[in-house]
Amino acid sequence: MDETDLRHVNADGITIHAPEDFEGMRRAGRLAAETLDMIAEHVRPGVTTGELDRIIHDFITAHGAIPATLGYRGYPKSCCISVNHVVCHGIPGAGIPMGRGETISKSLEKRRRDDTLKEGDILNIDVTVILDGWYGDTSRMYVAGKPSRQAEKLIRVTHDALMIGIEQVRPGATFGDIGAAIQDYVESQRMSVVRDFCGHGIGRVFHAPPNVLHYGRPGTGPVLEEGMFFTIEPMVNLGRPDTKILADDWTAVTRDRSLSAQFEHTVGVTAEGAENFTESPAGRFHPLAR
Ligand code: MF3
Ligand code: CO
Ligand code: CO
Repeated sequence: MDETDLRHVNADGITIHAPEDFEGMRRAGRLAAETLDMIAEHVRPGVTTGELDRIIHDFITAHGAIPATLGYRGYPKSCCISVNHVVCHGIPGAGIPMGRGETISKSLEKRRRDDTLKEGDILNIDVTVILDGWYGDTSRMYVAGKPSRQAEKLIRVTHDALMIGIEQVRPGATFGDIGAAIQDYVESQRMSVVRDFCGHGIGRVFHAPPNVLHYGRPGTGPVLEEGMFFTIEPMVNLGRPDTKILADDWTAVTRDRSLSAQFEHTVGVTAEGAENFTESPAGRFHPLAR
């Protein structure tokens, strides 16, 4: 049997990759993680999200890769930056949606402030690169200045929820095992898991089957097999899980305008468990000292 025979789509519609495909994912994942390492020192009060996006764009292209979000379904920028109560898909340079305490009346909640980060803002930066045809997708949280106690706890719980999800990954486990482990942990911390967005298969395409849910029941859903590539990217809210999408058709916010956090890794299933393609080479994935 030649190598190409090892690559196929299984009965659940999930691509099973060949051993040599891992090397392409390693390179793409490493560049995405290096991009997030690189941007860390630029995140501080006074910088704009538009400036961060430009730095990220230039770094990715200087390394011979393409920012996958640029032009994806009409998305206009090279990363997503989601500040405070923005759950995901915040558009850099498009104005930061006003949060709790920032509006004078309910009727003004559609207003946005300018793109400048303020002391205490928490933000997710989500980067996907295409390198030699392979996609690497990762996001992590940053803080401009010093976070509130509540924000710090949210960030820690969300990070740990992702890691607990990755611990479930091995051939024979189910996607429901991943979702259940994440949900159980987050709810034990009296926070909520967003239901409206999920992780996804990835590889030579950005978004492929399956939907990787961050909630569920053990033993349900497709069975994991060696050679699957997918993301796990839980979004966790301090308040209710409900979200809504703003008039730009991208920016997702918590309905109750409570703070939201997210971390994302791209992983591959190996014989032993998971290979994390987007681990931080600098060891900086978790933004807060413990
Ligand atoms: N990187 C995001 C994910 O984790 C997708 C962003 S698509 C965009 O799947 F168009 F909003 F950029
Ligand atoms: Co993703
Ligand atoms: Co992403």
